[in-house]
Amino acid sequence: MDMYERWGDKGESPIKELYRSLPVLEREGERLSPKDRLRALSGPLLKWYESHARKLPWRENQDPYPIWISEIMLQQTRVEAVKPYFTRFMKALPNISALAQVEEEALLKLWEGLGYYSRARNLKKAACIVMDEYGGLMPRSYEELLKLPGIGSYTAGAVASIAYHIPVPAVDGNVMRVISRILGSYEDITKGATKKNLEKLLTESMDQKHPGQFNQALFETGALLCIPKGEPKCGDCPLASLCVARQKGLWQEIPVKPSKKVRKIEEKTVLVISSQEEGDWKVALRKRPDQGLLASLYEFPNIEGKVDLTSYAQASAACGVAEGKIRQVRCLGEAKHIFSHIEWHMVGYWIQVEGSLPEPFVSADIRELEGKYPLPNAFLAYRKAFFMTK
Ligand code: ADE
Ligand code: SF4
Repeated sequence: MDMYERWGDKGESPIKELYRSLPVLEREGERLSPKDRLRALSGPLLKWYESHARKLPWRENQDPYPIWISEIMLQQTRVEAVKPYFTRFMKALPNISALAQVEEEALLKLWEGLGYYSRARNLKKAACIVMDEYGGLMPRSYEELLKLPGIGSYTAGAVASIAYHIPVPAVDGNVMRVISRILGSYEDITKGATKKNLEKLLTESMDQKHPGQFNQALFETGALLCIPKGEPKCGDCPLASLCVARQKGLWQEIPVKPSKKVRKIEEKTVLVISSQEEGDWKVALRKRPDQGLLASLYEFPNIEGKVDLTSYAQASAACGVAEGKIRQVRCLGEAKHIFSHIEWHMVGYWIQVEGSLPEPFVSADIRELEGKYPLPNAFLAYRKAFFMTK
């Protein structure tokens, strides 16, 4: 009997059979609630971790002290950079008592190059508290760990789950990236509320029997597959069939992480130099350089800094027109324009001159301002003010 006959006998195609054997969760795909989706992670995640866990010096035993030290180091520093620091630190200060007694100078020397030195100072403070109040043993609950200086929900979760097998999550930026992608969540991961929600969700859905493995497997996923820069390796990811970002191709959009842009502030004085010739208003424009910000567009002449131009003498010096030829100077007020990396904080002046406009500038008929000379929006406030004032 050949294979086709066999299927014929059963009345089922191999595809149907395969489909039937898939977990229900995979078939329902998108309709899963976030909690169910996360509950379904444990199996494939832990199985993958068994064969893909990196060999790291702080994973050699389950003593809370090295786990605590490593998690503090790993908060702002990459795994590869942490390794030699961790090894040296453990040699110099092999236990909590040694850490509690170390001179600050020696401690900072051990930390030198890792940055964020308050982490080291908090380690020592916490070690002293453990010596004084906990008999030299790290507290054994998530809540007690949280009370120590320098220990927040992430570190408390990592130590409690890895050293004590307490089912609490350890949510850092990497875990938020992985989970947001799996859930297809557009929540802003830089917000405290998003982290709190994720912690709650994971507390309710994480693996209860192997919490330390579960949390570390998520770190591993974030480091090896669902990487912070560039395209995630979904093809190798054990969570692919559960992942909304993978199904919908959203890895470039998720996680949502609005960057805190620090813009450079540039102050400017904008000159709206104009004259009325035979009834027609002309206004002085200048072409911007053909490279850089607002390249090749036109602008009202402007000078660096906020300059006071209220006297004719000041205005004359600023626009190169003889003092006697200035008819009127009027302040047009302040305006602000925000570019992606720069903010212009401007003050504008209307300088009405007699006769033709100063030489290097383009003398534009105001009727041409609209169509002929592209004047960027950054100057809109002064264009409007000029039209209203003239
Ligand atoms: N990142 C943060 N904690 C980690 C850990 N315990 N192992 C690997 N990477 C980590
Ligand atoms: Fe990240 Fe891709 Fe895995 Fe989803 S399937 S968790 S996007 S690596």
